[in-house]
Amino acid sequence: MNNLEDVESIKKYLDDRLDNASSAEDVLKIKLEFLGKKGFISKMLADMSKIPAEKRKEYGIKINSLKDEIEGVIELHSKKYDGSSVSQYSDLYKSLPGTKPNIGHLHIITTAISEITGVFVPLGFTRTRYPEVEREYFAFEALNMPETHPARDEWETFFIDSPTDEKLGRLVITPHTSSGQVKEMLKGDLPIRMLNISRCGRRQIDISHVPSFYQFEGLVVDKNVNITHLIGVLNYFARNFFGPDRKIRLRPYHFRFTEPSFEVDIDCGVCHGKGCRLCKSGWLELGGAGMVHPNVLKAGGIDSEIYTGFAFGWGVERTYMMKSGTKIDDIRHLFSNDLRFLEQF
Ligand code: FA5
Repeated sequence: MNNLEDVESIKKYLDDRLDNASSAEDVLKIKLEFLGKKGFISKMLADMSKIPAEKRKEYGIKINSLKDEIEGVIELHSKKYDGSSVSQYSDLYKSLPGTKPNIGHLHIITTAISEITGVFVPLGFTRTRYPEVEREYFAFEALNMPETHPARDEWETFFIDSPTDEKLGRLVITPHTSSGQVKEMLKGDLPIRMLNISRCGRRQIDISHVPSFYQFEGLVVDKNVNITHLIGVLNYFARNFFGPDRKIRLRPYHFRFTEPSFEVDIDCGVCHGKGCRLCKSGWLELGGAGMVHPNVLKAGGIDSEIYTGFAFGWGVERTYMMKSGTKIDDIRHLFSNDLRFLEQF
């Protein structure tokens, strides 16, 4: 059977053989008979040289289309038996071990978020997440920063090209998790113990800044809350997250939405307080904190004569970088998506 005239008889023969097949093995044998090294198609191709040169092209095309047709019909039949296709090799190499898929792991920032959450939840904090895109009102005005106040510049905000809301202002990529404070208060559920971990954005990039980063924000509002509670919670977090040997310090600072306000630093985990290219001075700033300003409580519909509160907002990435042993000396590594870096954690 090696002439073109035989094509129809080959097809007929194939149909007969397949009609009589009753198992995947039968189909495999038929496949080898037609498509294997010594099968019909191979023989017909080997005969190519005997075909007159002017007919060779037509001959080649016809054999190839016959081959495609046979493959299709066999594939269809093989599915009848086990739902999958029979490959020429499937039975021969059954005992070879399979190819192991690569097993990934959580990204280091996801790990950081769950470790941070794990420290605060036992203290009674409830994890929340506020949107990445926010109205100016919640990012600034509600936090005691009127439209023209220069403090807004510190947040180096990304503005979104979209219609301005008459009351709530423009849309921004939220520059800090503090935007969630007044939204949480407006829910009207008191007391509040919120832990808001969300993505923020600012127009900054260098060794300790990236344009897109995460912050975790604690907000506690209750009766008789005072500054010792704030310091107690910050120390509790530092001891549990970084270990008992590390030191944090509170530096007086000015935020419009807390009074008094602090910035919180930790002894640098990369150089152990000696001073390096990341921290410069031996201390690295992790975030801000303070007692909630009465104007912010007012914006949240809370009577500041009855309730007081404290808040803190720290960078997730910097906090994780300062964990003992991580030795991450440039925040940009975290977003490089370089597997050589990520696989270390
Ligand atoms: C704030 O964002 C205040 N909202 C913090 C706060 C909350 C104060 C509640 C008082 C009460 P600041 O701009 O300093 O503060 O940012 C806090 C921390 O976020 C920084 O110390 C740093 O850890 C992290 N951070 C800020 N900008 C970036 C950035 N571009 N890349 C990475 N981390 C950043």
